[in-house]
Amino acid sequence: MALHDQLSALAAELASALTSASDERALEELRIAYLGRSGKITEIRRGIGKLPPDERPTAGKSINDAVAGLEAQFAAAQQGIELRKLDAELERTLDVTLWNVPAPLGSFHPIRKTIDDACTYFVRHGFAVLLGPEVDTTRHNFDALNIPPDHPAREGFDSFYLRPDLLLRPHTSPMQIRAMEAYPPPIAIVVPGKCYRRDAVDARHLYQFNQIEGLQVGEGIHFGHLRGMLTGMCRELFGPRQEVRFRPSFFPFTEPSAEIDTTCPGCGGGGESCRTCGGSGWIEIGGSGMVHPNVLRAVGYDPDVVSGWAFGCGIERLAMVRYDIGDIREFIWNEPSFLEQLA
Ligand code: DAH
Repeated sequence: MALHDQLSALAAELASALTSASDERALEELRIAYLGRSGKITEIRRGIGKLPPDERPTAGKSINDAVAGLEAQFAAAQQGIELRKLDAELERTLDVTLWNVPAPLGSFHPIRKTIDDACTYFVRHGFAVLLGPEVDTTRHNFDALNIPPDHPAREGFDSFYLRPDLLLRPHTSPMQIRAMEAYPPPIAIVVPGKCYRRDAVDARHLYQFNQIEGLQVGEGIHFGHLRGMLTGMCRELFGPRQEVRFRPSFFPFTEPSAEIDTTCPGCGGGGESCRTCGGSGWIEIGGSGMVHPNVLRAVGYDPDVVSGWAFGCGIERLAMVRYDIGDIREFIWNEPSFLEQLA
């Protein structure tokens, strides 16, 4: 038989032998029989010596090619055996009726939730949410907000200073300035974020807390817009029957200025012996007012053309009222037993 036919017959013979080699031992025996030192290939190689010298190199190459083919057949068979072994193993061990181990689910922190819900409300009304730096200049925190260096209101902010002109922001109001410097009117933004003050920690104070700032400036913007937006925010956070009222106050960056109260969610405004509002029926939630003309001028807006309102609320305060929490430190103790109740 010609060498070529001999080699193809060998490949065919191996193919059929491999179909009945069901494990690695059978495979190894075949490997020895075909490729081993005294196997079928070796036998064929021996025949090369009998060929005329000029045919030997071609014959050698054909045999080497055939060996590569046989090795590929063995590799495929080997892989088949391994796969069958794995299938059998899975069949034996995989119990699809076994319960999965449940991963513990996290939940949003009440502060995060309150920020998100307030922002969602404003976004629905076309406001943009901006974030700003927690370290900011005295110009953004005070000067441009109509609080000059000698103004007593600066002291009231009890700030942490990094340099005489740089501090951890004690409120989110500096973002009013940054936003108006970055965008021409009309503008409608809210800014949630962390603030810092030199306060001793107790049931009502933290030295790091959160505020949400709101600002709307444009032609014809008036106090009614402020009232409407804040009433809506309180209804979003506390319930559909909330009302707000404004008490005259003072902030250097607004004129007129007002403290914002909302009907006490604890007693629905009924008061008497309510522990949330102390009987008044109202809860104070922040400060607000019409943006002072000096603030508009400081950012290059024309107070004769545009007007605006602004407000600032403490998020912890909103969340304490919302979830009926008596101690602000609950938010940073992060006891799972506390957080799970609000999840
Ligand atoms: N920034 C003030 C504070 O932290 C709160 C505030 C009052 C913000 C009046 C305002 C505002 O935007 O109009 O005490």
